[in-house]
Amino acid sequence: MKKKLIILGIMFLIVGFGIGLVIKAQLNNSTMEQDIEDEEEISSLSTASGDDAPAATIIKAPESAPDPAMPGMDLGGPFTLVNQDGKTVTEKDFTGKYKLIFFGFTYCPDVCPTELQKMTQIMGLLDEETAAKVQPIFISVDPERDDVKTVKAYVEQFDPRLVGLTGTVEQVEAVKKAYRVYAAKVDMGDPDNYMVDHSAFTYFMGPNDENLAIFPAKDTAEDVAAAIKGKIS
Ligand code: NI
Repeated sequence: MKKKLIILGIMFLIVGFGIGLVIKAQLNNSTMEQDIEDEEEISSLSTASGDDAPAATIIKAPESAPDPAMPGMDLGGPFTLVNQDGKTVTEKDFTGKYKLIFFGFTYCPDVCPTELQKMTQIMGLLDEETAAKVQPIFISVDPERDDVKTVKAYVEQFDPRLVGLTGTVEQVEAVKKAYRVYAAKVDMGDPDNYMVDHSAFTYFMGPNDENLAIFPAKDTAEDVAAAIKGKIS
């Protein structure tokens, strides 16, 4: 009888040990699966940052991009450019006037014509006395293609008061820098048919070149007209 009990006890121990082993094996197995999943995740991440990564995932500001222009920021200042009649002009030619300035290029298919059309609307929304104090100005960021004749033909499509300015590459670089304008050529495979990626703000400058406001492209003509009316004395 005692022997039987001992045998039964040993059997229980063996069975218990066996169950223990099975449970341990199961646990090991699931940790291994987890490890494999982790490894797959890591390898897919390293693929994404490798050479095969889609270009869209690489978000890097161009090195030539200035800090974005902000209202109240000290910008503007002296410039020398050429107007659409071939006359050399400087910032002094506009002293005493409020200025609405937009930088762009005449070959721009979309943003520039839209923004200059908006500038035309803004001028139309101002009463005559107020409008007379505001000088709308277009400044080319593409002086290599935008010569005086091209700029003249371009500005004639918009408000008759719109002045178009261009210049040498150096002159345009200087005014871009003064206004913290970002513009960079985009290669389209044809040296004469490039695009220019550029910031699209409308600058509102005071009679003494004070930075009174900077309007993003999303602002409507009504928004801008209302805002500048409040600032013109
Ligand atoms: Ni444009």
